[in-house]
Amino acid sequence: MYEDISEIVFSEIDLYDMVCRIAERINEDFANEEILLVGLLKGSVVFITDLMRKIDVPCKLDFMSVSSYGNSTKSSGVVNVKMELSEEIEGKNVLIVEDIIDSGNTLSAVLELLKSRNPKSLKLVSLLSKPSRREKDVTIDYLGSEIDDLFVVGYGLDYAEKYRNLPYIGVLKPEVYL
Ligand code: IMP
Ligand code: MG
Repeated sequence: MYEDISEIVFSEIDLYDMVCRIAERINEDFANEEILLVGLLKGSVVFITDLMRKIDVPCKLDFMSVSSYGNSTKSSGVVNVKMELSEEIEGKNVLIVEDIIDSGNTLSAVLELLKSRNPKSLKLVSLLSKPSRREKDVTIDYLGSEIDDLFVVGYGLDYAEKYRNLPYIGVLKPEVYL
């Protein structure tokens, strides 16, 4: 498995630092508030479990699984919910947690869907972002790091469901997927 990786982009220590920095800002912004972390399955699972352990405000956890139609002929608010949240979000401070924002299509649809349920606040947390690939404008309230247009795996991110278990984030060798 490790031989499929050409370069490590974020080491375990880099990721730990990124998680701590994001959590510090959330702790400041939501001091004396309760938050609900909503992880988008499956890519966010490693990140969200690390992140929640650095959060020191009252915190609940939920998950959602969606697939974006990702087709410009469909309206931006359309998203296929494969697994629903287990609780209502009305009146809650919701933080959507995502692994990486690429085109932004998935997240703009998810944001629109959750906004329609009247949360008290709705913020977006993403470990990574590829700004050069953006098709839909989404505001990332808490971001770990921007990256170039490279296909990366590990720390929850997959290629064909593999490599999520790598403890670091690395570039997949093109010969693996070409
Ligand atoms: P988008 O922003 O709607 O284009 O989709 C973002 C989703 O695409 C992420 O949640 C990932 O599942 C996937 N994705 C985008 N770039 C990468 C990558 O470099 N590695 C692994 N998954 C990626
Ligand atoms: Mg994902």
